Amino acid sequence: MRALQFTEYGPADLLHVADVAEPHAGPGQIRVAVRASGVTPGDTYLRSGMFGDRLPLPHVPGVDAAGVVDEIGEGVTGVNLGDEVFGMVDLALLGGANAEFAVLVAWAPKPAAWSWEQAGGAAANVETATRTLDLLGVRDGMILLIAGAAGGVGTVAVQLAAARGARVIGTAGPATQDFVAAMGAVPVVYGEGLVDRVSAISAGRGVERGGAVDAVLHCAGPVPDLISLAGSPDRVVTIADLSGEHGVRLTHTAGGPGADPQALHGLAIAAGLSSFTVPLAGVFPLDRAADAHRLSETGHAHGKIVLV
Ligand SMILES: NC(=O)c1ccc[n+]([C@@H]2O[C@H](COP(=O)([O-])OP(=O)(O)OC[C@H]3O[C@@H](n4cnc5c(N)ncnc54)[C@H](OP(=O)(O)O)[C@@H]3O)[C@@H](O)[C@H]2O)c1
Repeated sequence: MRALQFTEYGPADLLHVADVAEPHAGPGQIRVAVRASGVTPGDTYLRSGMFGDRLPLPHVPGVDAAGVVDEIGEGVTGVNLGDEVFGMVDLALLGGANAEFAVLVAWAPKPAAWSWEQAGGAAANVETATRTLDLLGVRDGMILLIAGAAGGVGTVAVQLAAARGARVIGTAGPATQDFVAAMGAVPVVYGEGLVDRVSAISAGRGVERGGAVDAVLHCAGPVPDLISLAGSPDRVVTIADLSGEHGVRLTHTAGGPGADPQALHGLAIAAGLSSFTVPLAGVFPLDRAADAHRLSETGHAHGKIVLV
C-alpha cells in the first residue's frame, strides 16, 4: 500500500511516499481504507529526532484517521464493513495513520455533517481536549482560560468546554481573534498585559478558587501569567510545558511515568454535538506531507492539518 514514511530522523524533506506492507486488524481493532488522516506537532517532533531514536525505522507517521471499514478484528462488535468512521491508531506505535490503510483501536461513526478531511483530523485533538477538560473538572458555569485557543487542540477544546456550559476565554495572536471568537470563546491577545486583559473580561467572576478564572488549559505560550490568573498552579493543566518548572499538571499519554489514560470517550461525545466542527488549517495530498509538517512547525497553524 502507499504510505508516508521516513527512514532517518531529520527535516521534513525526509518524508516520502513508499510502498509498504499492509497492516491488518488484530483482536479488538478495525482497519479502514483511509480517506484522510491527521498531522500533529508530535509527528513533527518524532520525525525531527527531538525525542531521540525511539521508533523502529522506517516509520509511518500519523495517529488519527477517518475512512471506510474494510477489516474487523476478532471480538469487535457494533461496526460493519463499509461503515464510515474516524478514530485513533494504537498509541504504542506512535504512527501508522498517514497511509492507504490504517488500523484503529478506538473509533466512532463519522458524522454526516463532517467532511472526510474534518473527520480525519478529529480524533487526536478531541481525545486530548477531553482529557484536559476532565482533569480540570470543566463544567457548567465555570470560567476557563485556554492559552493557544487557535491551534488544533485549542479550537476543539473551546467547543467542547462551551458545550459543557463553561464560559471560555481564549488567547491567540492579533490576527486570529475573530477565528477564536467563531469557535465560541471570548478572544484575548496573548503577550504583555495578558493578566489585566483577562481579568477585565472575567470581571471578578470565576473566583471560586481565588483567581480571575476557575481553570486554565495551557496549549501554547508562557505559563507564569496563567498561574496568576488561575490563582494557583493546581488549577492549570498543560499539554505543552514539559519543563516541570512551574508546578502545573502536565498531562500526556506517551507512556512511562505520569502517563494518563486516553480519554477516548470524547470521540462519541464530539460526534454527537450538532454544532461541533474541526477547523482545518491546511489540507495536503500525501506526497506533499513535507509542506504539511512545515506548516505545523511554524507554530501558527489555525486548526488541524490533514493529509488526503
Ligand atoms: N500532552 C499531550 O497529550 C499533547 C497532545 C496534543 C498536543 N500536545 C502539544 O500541545 C501543543 C499544542 O498542540 P496543537 O496541536 O494545538 O498545536 P498547533 O495547532 O500547532 O498550535 C498552533 C497555535 O498556537 C498558537 N500560539 C502560538 N504561540 C502562542 C502563544 N504565545 N500564546 C497563545 N497561542 C499561541 C497559534 O496562534 P496564533 O497564530 O494566533 O499565534 C496557533 O494557532 C503542542 O506543543 C503539542 O505538541 C500535547
